[in-house]
Order: sequence, then C-alpha cells, then structure tokens
Amino acid sequence: MRIVLLGAPGSGKGTQAALLVKELGLPHISTGELLRSAVKAGSALGLQAKGVMDRGELVSDEIMLGLIEERLSRPDIGGGFILDGYPRNLVQAEALDDLLNRLEQPVEEALQIDVDVEMVIARIAKRAAEEGRSDDTEETVRKRMEVYAAQTAPVVDYYAGKGVLSRVLGEGSIEEVFQRIKGVLQMRSEA
Ligand code: AP5
Ligand code: MG
Repeated sequence: MRIVLLGAPGSGKGTQAALLVKELGLPHISTGELLRSAVKAGSALGLQAKGVMDRGELVSDEIMLGLIEERLSRPDIGGGFILDGYPRNLVQAEALDDLLNRLEQPVEEALQIDVDVEMVIARIAKRAAEEGRSDDTEETVRKRMEVYAAQTAPVVDYYAGKGVLSRVLGEGSIEEVFQRIKGVLQMRSEA
C-alpha cells in the first residue's frame, strides 16, 4: 500500500512508521531522516539543510522535490511505501501527485495522527534529553509547530478532498496508536 503519514512534530510518524515497516515490509521514506543523514555525511545538501533545520524552517521545495523524486524512482517502491515528513505544504503535495501519477502509483492512504500540542512538546522535550537532536531545542520546537500549523496542516484538507484521508488519535501508548492505525489500514484495504 502507498501510505503518507501526516501529523505535527512529535505526533509519532517515525515511531509508527517503524512498526508499519515490520508489519507490512514496505520501505520507510522519512525526509527528515534523509536530511539528517546528509547533514551527518557533510554533503552539499547537508550543508545547505542544516541551518534551515536548526531554525525549524522548511528546506526549499526545489531541494525536497529532487530528493523525493530520486527516492521514489528506485525499484523498491513497486510494492508500496510509507512516506513520513513529506509532503509538508501544498506545493509539495501537488508535486508528489504529479510524480506518482507519472509512475502510476498514486497515494492510497493519507493518515493524519492527531495530537494535543502540549503533549507533543513534552514528548519532544523527553527526546531532547535522551537523544539530543539538534532541532529539539525549545525555541526550534516552537518554530516547527508554527510552521506545521501554517504550512503543513492544510495538506490534511488536500488529501480529504482526494478521498484518501483517515485520522487516528495519537494519544495513549505506542501500541494503542499502532492498533488504531492497523484498523484504519484494514478498512482501506477492504474498501
Ligand atoms: P522531521 O524529521 O520530519 O521532523 P518532524 O515532522 O518535526 O517530526 P518528528 O520527527 O520530530 O516527530 P515524529 O512525528 O516522527 O514523532 P516520533 O515518532 O519521532 O523533519 C525535521 C526537519 O527537516 C523539518 O523541521 C524541516 O526543517 C526538514 N524537513 C523534513 N521534511 C521536509 C520537507 N518535506 N520539506 C521541507 N523540509 C523538511 O515521536 C516523537 C517522540 O515521542 C519520540 O521520542 C517517541 O519515542 C515518542 N513517542 C511516540 N509515540 C509515543 C506515544 N504514543 N507515547 C509516548 N511517547 C511516544
Ligand atoms: Mg520523525
């Protein structure tokens, strides 16, 4: 199945994608992870992206389109994929549709993980203490939330308009959220 995971920073996209990978055996494509690897490798892309990410802003659409096009053109996506962190605005959503229509592999499920802002801020603060991701500082997290509300939240309506949106509550344990997601995917595959 071709799945897009949507949700605010800290909503659990990466956590749930990892569980779905085990369950469905599909590749997990996280644009945040692709960018963090580029930063770590010190590539030209990484050098460009680091400052933007540390400010909590979005890396340019041009860079992201190139990155996602390259990744989705690889043969391992033939059986489906789990996209996490892309699209993040309407320009990216439309570009993704164009690309996937060309590949004859349209999005089948856009899954929005709904969470309370205060709860995710607490989750990210915990991760900051444990892992030290450089964009998990209080100031940057606030900025990431603002960017999400202004630019990414409209993508939910975009997919609702295409008839592929489902929503799940992202509160409760990781396993509880996973069971909700599995229920939604089950319904989609039977539809
Ligand atoms: P990205 O890496 O995508 O970050 P994000 O969207 O801000 O989301 P997070 O990864 O912080 O959260 P998540 O939803 O994956 O939650 P997680 O599972 O980790 O993007 C980073 C940056 O890259 C962006 O700000 C931007 O600069 C750039 N970027 C990326 N994609 C881009 C694009 N398309 N265009 C432009 N720029 C782009 O969970 C969070 C924490 O909570 C973890 O510690 C987890 O263990 C814990 N947790 C999860 N679920 C539960 C639960 N049910 N109960 C308790 N704890 C839980
Ligand atoms: Mg993530």
